[in-house]
Amino acid sequence: MTLPSQKIISAGQRALQQMADRDTPFIFNDWYVAALKQEVGRQLTKRTLLGRRVVLYRTEAGQPVALDDRCAHRSYPLSEGILDGDTIICGYHGFRYDANGNWCEVPSQAKCPQGIGVRNYPLIEQGPLIWIWLGDDAPDATKLPHQDWMESPNWAWSSGYMPMKGSYVGLHENLIDLTHLSFVHERTFGTPDYARAPFEVDIGEEKFAVLRNVVPTKLPPMWANATGLVETTTAARIARSSFESPGLHLTSVAFYESTLPENDRAEFHIRVAHLPTPETASSTHYFFVVGRDFGLDQEDLQNFIHEQTCEVFSEDKKALALVDDVLRDRDHSFFEVSVASDAAAVAMRRYLKSRARTDVREQESVAAVTMVRSTDA
Ligand code: FES
Ligand SMILES: [Fe+2]
Repeated sequence: MTLPSQKIISAGQRALQQMADRDTPFIFNDWYVAALKQEVGRQLTKRTLLGRRVVLYRTEAGQPVALDDRCAHRSYPLSEGILDGDTIICGYHGFRYDANGNWCEVPSQAKCPQGIGVRNYPLIEQGPLIWIWLGDDAPDATKLPHQDWMESPNWAWSSGYMPMKGSYVGLHENLIDLTHLSFVHERTFGTPDYARAPFEVDIGEEKFAVLRNVVPTKLPPMWANATGLVETTTAARIARSSFESPGLHLTSVAFYESTLPENDRAEFHIRVAHLPTPETASSTHYFFVVGRDFGLDQEDLQNFIHEQTCEVFSEDKKALALVDDVLRDRDHSFFEVSVASDAAAVAMRRYLKSRARTDVREQESVAAVTMVRSTDA
């Protein structure tokens, strides 16, 4: 007998209905990274974010701008037009848009119709990141998962981007369940003791975290070389994986020699901001910022950590693409069974599902009001 009992299968299927997956609608009313700072300049850059086509550029004064990438006249992509000063000239019939997304010139007529244009999306530039609000609610700046450490002189960091196949939900789950380090990352920065290490789960209303203590351990070459804890088999690797928002997962790791008293030992801290922005239901923009609080001026160290991180993330990318292929083909008999170490991931996916339901309900109520109004008229 390899299949679980029907009772377990049914319980697993019921549990899945409460958890977000690749088919769950996106949560629009929140902040996501639209681009890295250096990606947006004096050229038109197109990107699909949460299924919406967006065009990005900077004004001459350096302000980033995000508009719907679709002309309000006949839907030609604005990203295929021309950036002229702070305005975009559509490449089809030449209608001109200002940085707010409004028409400011229609070549075929002397008078430009007022109050017509495309949507302009609120952006916040912070450190290496440009955040976007795609929701219908008013943008809530207090919801921005601001990361002070990216602007602190006590931290050095590098930023990167990787397009991925698979849903952002899968990437969040991958990040909160680091038991996969011993297997997916066996060749790079996983160690056999990682999956078995004791852990604590911290489940809040909107935040979900796992704290894992891998002590004593022998660090994998990536972290042994970066920290200098090379020969020891009594190192400590303390990792906190924390879901902060639909657009941010934070990993914070401390390394030190566990046999030394707290006051006599050097501690090395790594922080990784994983910034998944859904592109489509089955593809994700994986932005990341990898920070450290040691060797701040060592460019070689920064390059080494950055390259190794990219290699590690390519392993995740491969695993998540394989999972997405399987999930795409699932049928009515599909089930999954969770174990104790999945507690935080399950809570996080339930939260995403309930946020998505609220978002959809809000959109439906706006649509209903609009319908009533147009019927009234
Ligand atoms: S489609 Fe853009 S001006 Fe006509
Ligand atoms: Fe991973």
